[in-house]
Amino acid sequence: MNQLIASIPAYLSKQISDVVSSDPTAINLSIGEPYFRPPTLLYQNFSQLPISMGRDFDSIPHKYAESRGSLTLRREIALWYKRNYGADISPEENVLITHGACEAIWLSILTLTSIGDEVIIADPSYMLYETAVKMLGRIPVKIPTSPENGFCLTVEQIEDATTENTKMILINSPENPTGAVYSGQTIKGIHELAKKYGIQFVHDEVYDTFVFNGQHENVFRHQTEADSASVLINGFSKKFSMMGWRLGWTVGSKEYINNATKVHTNLTLNLGSFHQDCAATILNHESIDDYLRDHVKIIENNGKILKSALRKESGFMLSEVTPKGAFFLFPEISELYAAMPEKYKESKTKGEGVAQYLLHEHKVAVVPGMIYGKAGNDYIRVVAAVEEDKVNEAARRFIEISNFIGEPAL
Ligand SMILES: Cc1ncc(COP(=O)(O)O)c(C=O)c1O
Repeated sequence: MNQLIASIPAYLSKQISDVVSSDPTAINLSIGEPYFRPPTLLYQNFSQLPISMGRDFDSIPHKYAESRGSLTLRREIALWYKRNYGADISPEENVLITHGACEAIWLSILTLTSIGDEVIIADPSYMLYETAVKMLGRIPVKIPTSPENGFCLTVEQIEDATTENTKMILINSPENPTGAVYSGQTIKGIHELAKKYGIQFVHDEVYDTFVFNGQHENVFRHQTEADSASVLINGFSKKFSMMGWRLGWTVGSKEYINNATKVHTNLTLNLGSFHQDCAATILNHESIDDYLRDHVKIIENNGKILKSALRKESGFMLSEVTPKGAFFLFPEISELYAAMPEKYKESKTKGEGVAQYLLHEHKVAVVPGMIYGKAGNDYIRVVAAVEEDKVNEAARRFIEISNFIGEPAL
């Protein structure tokens, strides 16, 4: 057994979610999955496919397919960047379809770095980053972010952490778990820094359509073509609630896509070929901007309800400036920890203790912040992408905590 892999814990938020799904009175705010359904258009188009009609057996694709993914889908992805950012990218040269954004994250590390290289990531950040970097024998360099900076890394912090071994900066904006959104100025600053030091700037933008005020920023706000210093990672899971379709993509220079395709082909040969063209039909459809706008409004509103319930009187501390995007709230919970019953204080971190307390005493499932990095030890992650009645009930339960704990002891 590879001891490194054996030492890495299993996917915790999934485990919590599995426990909670067996209790109908519990509210699950632990899994980063939107409650809403994919666009109706997807179903309409899917029902036209020969495979779902159970007919026309000969037209069901059954051979190995194009490794880079369907050209129809790649064209739509190029159009997505043209339509939203005015970018000119080539569907043939700059786009690779991946098994979710997850695969694109692995591809970036495998293709752009070598064993022993350093990869800069934010602490806290999406747990897959550190896990993948470690599993591949690269070194994660985690820079703590803070509520004061809206949980964003600054260009200065990144420059200070850059050494001759640094080969990649991996950021996520809008961010899981903090709800941080990087400004255009910082994105440009990181990109310039990457060019200055000859390192790669990889931006996971899977929550791109969930920005509450203002617009999503990526490198295509300041340049029109893919360049050799930056890579984007994106996908269908979050914006269209298509997690199970496992469709993601990555955009980069011709050289990057050629090399990432070698890794992708050796790993997978090709993705499933039944569903890609169907997904392609929704990406730039005239109805899609309304669909996306409606959902970001709902999530923003859910976030506001939860934010006003995660109050100081109940032992939560939430940064004024977050969340700015994505699906998550990331309150600090030291005061709640100090005031809650002793029996929940045996865990390694305060966040774990509070997550246990909330689950057992108030039937609300959340994820302890430590799984996103040490800087998250005193935090919990609360998911806002759930149905309205669950948001309201969870808010009621969070407010009610003040009656149980009285005056916080800190
Ligand atoms: C920041 C981030 N990137 C990537 C993913 C995985 O996305 P996909 O379903 O496209 O693999 C997630 C899922 O939670 C995520 O939060």
